[in-house]
Amino acid sequence: MPITSAQFVISSPDVASCPKSSLPEYAFIGRSNVGKSSLINMLCHNPKLAKTSQKPGKTLLINHFLINGNQPHAWHLVDLPGYGFAQAGLKQREKLKLMIERYCLLREPLMSLFVLIDCRIEAQPIDLQFMEWLGENEIPFAIIFTKADKLGKGALAANIDAYKRKMLESWVELPPIFVSSAEKGLGGNEIVSYIEQVNATPTI
Ligand code: GTP
Ligand code: MG
Repeated sequence: MPITSAQFVISSPDVASCPKSSLPEYAFIGRSNVGKSSLINMLCHNPKLAKTSQKPGKTLLINHFLINGNQPHAWHLVDLPGYGFAQAGLKQREKLKLMIERYCLLREPLMSLFVLIDCRIEAQPIDLQFMEWLGENEIPFAIIFTKADKLGKGALAANIDAYKRKMLESWVELPPIFVSSAEKGLGGNEIVSYIEQVNATPTI
């Protein structure tokens, strides 16, 4: 079912202070400024829900949003800080890295991460290494290419194709892949349908 309601729950400085909840959870992760918060706002039809900024490093906490809280099948959407924000000091970057890694490893209701990649930029070591780390730790993830409005159809297809080829150098199988534009409202239905499909899959 589509997203009919979305409410901010809490911002947490670490995984230990995240909500005590067993609702299925999906988190958006990726480099600073890739468009995580904007995409959450687009999916939830509320431009003010998650704070966005032209300056990287806007989101610095783990932000929980309750989706369809008035329905039998509610779930959580999580906005995470971006990784690899160059202007942040080394200490700050290390702190965020640890916060993100601990969240990914220890957050029990986490069903899948969505790794966001700017569709204009060729495969970056920081994203490839992060996804390798997810694989090594058996953390499920999907990829969302963001800012699709910034490219023409042909260039978009070529970039995604090149990205897939790069990933297949080290992966046997590709994760689910989505393409989005928060600006144009593209890709939301596919992402929400995927989440609903995972929610409906019985866990052993
Ligand atoms: P941090 O919280 O700093 O890690 O960034 P973030 O990944 O949450 O990015 P955010 O959503 O704040 O967006 C960063 C900038 O990209 C803002 O200026 C957005 O308006 C812009 N942006 C986000 N998504 C899109 C998109 O789909 N298309 C275009 N053209 N711009 C976008
Ligand atoms: Mg953000």
